[in-house]
Amino acid sequence: MNQEIKACIFDLDGVIVDTAKYHFTAWRNLANQLGFDFTEKDNEKLKGVSRVDSLNLILQWGGLNFSDNIKTELATDKNEDYLSYIQKMTAAEILPGVVPFLNELKELNIKIALGSASKNAVTILKQVGIIDYFEAIIDGTKVVNGKPHPEGFLMAASELGIVPANCLVFEDAPKGVQAALAAKMFVVGIGKEEDLGTAHFVMADFEKKKFKAIEEKLLSLTLR
Ligand code: BG6
Ligand code: MG
Repeated sequence: MNQEIKACIFDLDGVIVDTAKYHFTAWRNLANQLGFDFTEKDNEKLKGVSRVDSLNLILQWGGLNFSDNIKTELATDKNEDYLSYIQKMTAAEILPGVVPFLNELKELNIKIALGSASKNAVTILKQVGIIDYFEAIIDGTKVVNGKPHPEGFLMAASELGIVPANCLVFEDAPKGVQAALAAKMFVVGIGKEEDLGTAHFVMADFEKKKFKAIEEKLLSLTLR
């Protein structure tokens, strides 16, 4: 099998931009209004998890349950609050090294896609000015099955016309790493080894990272 990398699929939140802090603030505002609180450590469990599943988990932590109609209202309120932070974002909030890395991929003719659970992905990419880098955008509006299901990454590969074995995913969430492995793709974890140890390898961020060096390292490993 030809294992060269022809496409990179990026998760958004926590890989391209640090929006986890805005999700945390907006969910916490909602929990506080409902009379309970949760910690930043709890918030880790929401990474890569869809809006509705995040709400269900948070309500569980608060020992609350509501009808589907009320839950839709709560999720909408949270999203409006979240978007008020997003609307203030600038290109300065793109994580270090991401733009030079995307430029290197363009120069090398490596295809670029987004594979995110967020329904706000297009808004965020436009807000920080990098939407034109992405040839395919698979987000929470397009997938039925959230991570760790491989659906989103497989859709991205198919839209790019590249087989999964030639795709490399960048992910910061354990569930996202699982999804990429289930899609039989290469996966580099962005964050800490202790959280993302099942990835092919883990790096803290994109700062000073070169695609060619990453590809070489990955190709020396066997696809798991
Ligand atoms: C993921 C985030 O990328 O998107 C989750 O890691 C978030 O924290 C999910 O819940 C859905 O995001 P949104 O923008 O559709 O509410
Ligand atoms: Mg993420």
